[in-house]
Amino acid sequence: MNKTIFITGTSSGLGKLTAIHFAKLGWNVAATMRTPEKETELTQYDNIKIFKLDVTNLEQVAASVEQAVAAFGKIDVVVNNAGMGTYGPLELAKEDAIDWQFAVNTRGTINVIRKFLPHFRANGGGMFINISSFMGVTTAVPLGSLYNMSKFALEGLTEGLYYELKPLNIELRLIEQGGSEGNNFKENITWNKDASITAYDDLMTKVENLMENADSSQLDNPQVIVDAIAAQATGESKKFRTLIGDAGSGLMALRNSVPIEEYLETIAQSYK
Ligand SMILES: NC(=O)c1ccc[n+]([C@@H]2O[C@H](COP(=O)([O-])OP(=O)(O)OC[C@H]3O[C@@H](n4cnc5c(N)ncnc54)[C@H](OP(=O)(O)O)[C@@H]3O)[C@@H](O)[C@H]2O)c1
Repeated sequence: MNKTIFITGTSSGLGKLTAIHFAKLGWNVAATMRTPEKETELTQYDNIKIFKLDVTNLEQVAASVEQAVAAFGKIDVVVNNAGMGTYGPLELAKEDAIDWQFAVNTRGTINVIRKFLPHFRANGGGMFINISSFMGVTTAVPLGSLYNMSKFALEGLTEGLYYELKPLNIELRLIEQGGSEGNNFKENITWNKDASITAYDDLMTKVENLMENADSSQLDNPQVIVDAIAAQATGESKKFRTLIGDAGSGLMALRNSVPIEEYLETIAQSYK
């Protein structure tokens, strides 16, 4: 019987590419997104079914899980991919922007995991692949503290769950990539700004320039990320964490080789 994968955030970027990749591998794909009415690409595949899902909406989480299980009978792998970034000084963040960062990247993943656990228990197992970032295992960009918070929390959640889900044959994986081409991540960033406070302006300009001018050599090939997800889903790899790309590997090598004070100062100096 064909295996089935359930993916969040498939309207663009990595989620969409992952949905298409698995459809081409012959898997059934439950592709979820906030606005299915706008989708024209994934609808071309017979083995992809699209379900409406905003991961922050508990009713939609329940309904989409129920509908996907009804459509395919059994879900083998869930990819928690939906995510967005909130950048800018913490002092300038609006209250709802702070909550939304956590609500989508962290609480949203919790919502989906919790709704799938009864299904996985009934099936005797399953796998959650959580799409993190190298920003989930180290800091790298000033003014990214809220995004770091959401992905560090996702990492802690995933690690912590290992102990209670391992005995139930429910596997957990983390994918930790850097920036990649072909997604809307930059366009979807919420920037925390306040024209009346200028103390952070220099740093803000540097970070915005960095994001605007990142050349493609600094970006990961999205297909490499999709292949890493597929390696986990198919059992080819059993790595709990998959760190992808030169940027993340370089940062982690530095972080692991010097005291944290030196690491923080090295990153800070690079933005002077
Ligand atoms: N690109 C990067 O630089 C980068 C680096 C490391 C990690 N990541 C992570 O990779 C994952 C995929 O991002 P991407 O690079 O493919 O960027 P993307 O093109 O912006 O994709 C993000 C997806 O998440 C969806 N989403 C946002 N809020 C949602 C919500 N409340 N409920 C359901 N879906 C929601 C978006 O849907 P809408 O179209 O409805 O907004 C979109 O489909 C994210 O978890 C991101 O944090 C990205």
